[in-house]
Amino acid sequence: MLQEDEQIMRIGVLTGGGDCPGLNAVIRAVVRKGVATYGHEFVGFQDGWKGPLEGLSRPLGIAEVRGILPRGGTILGSSRTNPFKIENGVERIRENLAAQGVDALIAIGGEDTLGVATKLHELGVNVVGVPKTIDNDLGATDYTFGFDTAVNIAMEAIDRLHTTAESHHRTLVVEVMGRHAGWIALHAGLAGGANVILLPERQFDVEQVAGYVEKRFQHQYAPIVVVAEGAQPLDGQMVLHNQELDSFGHVRLGGIGQWLAEQLEAKTGKEARTVVLGHIQRGGTPTAFDRVLATRLGLQAIDAVHEGDWGKMVAMQSTDIVRVPLAEATRELKTVPLERYAEAEVFFGS
Ligand code: F6P
Repeated sequence: MLQEDEQIMRIGVLTGGGDCPGLNAVIRAVVRKGVATYGHEFVGFQDGWKGPLEGLSRPLGIAEVRGILPRGGTILGSSRTNPFKIENGVERIRENLAAQGVDALIAIGGEDTLGVATKLHELGVNVVGVPKTIDNDLGATDYTFGFDTAVNIAMEAIDRLHTTAESHHRTLVVEVMGRHAGWIALHAGLAGGANVILLPERQFDVEQVAGYVEKRFQHQYAPIVVVAEGAQPLDGQMVLHNQELDSFGHVRLGGIGQWLAEQLEAKTGKEARTVVLGHIQRGGTPTAFDRVLATRLGLQAIDAVHEGDWGKMVAMQSTDIVRVPLAEATRELKTVPLERYAEAEVFFGS
């Protein structure tokens, strides 16, 4: 119910970093509750931090968020722009927020976007963060939306690859995303019944992997090897397409799947092929889990803004949606604990 004496705020919303399914569901929840319950106004900043940096914005009201719940991607666009790497970046953001009459920002992003939000909060900007990433690697939240969708896409791919691998008595190596965390590989591999799962959290011995593959062939089944893009062989260098860094200092990962398939073919004498799932894992419509999680996070984010609870990130802890300090959430990456990996190892090679 709208209160007459409440102060109306003008709130900027942005989505930064790699997109993921569920971003639109957050935007919708924020705007729907913000307008209907609190009477606030919104402005959509385009392409992540580039929006407030360059004053690129678009109207964001109930009409603009109609019908976007099931849509993948983000109606606001995204980028990996880091305002702290740009001359006078912070001053420019402040100027553009003031010019557009914006009182507060809701930043929806992963470690990089929320890292910027953390620093801006420390510099006095009114910010609330919402965690997103298919990688599920943000601390202080049990899950990030986008992860469940990515895992389901990868699982479905693995299900399909089983049948063709069996027909041709081949090894199929499936490379999945996740950057320096193995969550997608672990969950998709477990759900898809992979023969071996390789994560960035533990270097693998290619001889041992070849042993698992051979054992699987002895059982008259073709092996599926799921490898996270950030996984590394023992004493090996991470395999990279190129060594260029983005503005947050990340290398572009990818290539380990191809390398591994070549090694396995040479060591086992059985044909091995690679499937790189890549951005397919980030595209398309979100699962029901991600839509619900994204919606609940959006509702909590607008409540935090309304209450002036700045510098917080909304998070899922157990089944509750809570608020945690942004600084706590961005302090360190949440990687796969080795005891979780041990659960998967039970099934390797059998
Ligand atoms: O962080 C999400 C993610 O999809 C990672 O899993 C992957 O390493 C990276 O982004 C890919 O980045 P880009 O979209 O720039 O290719």
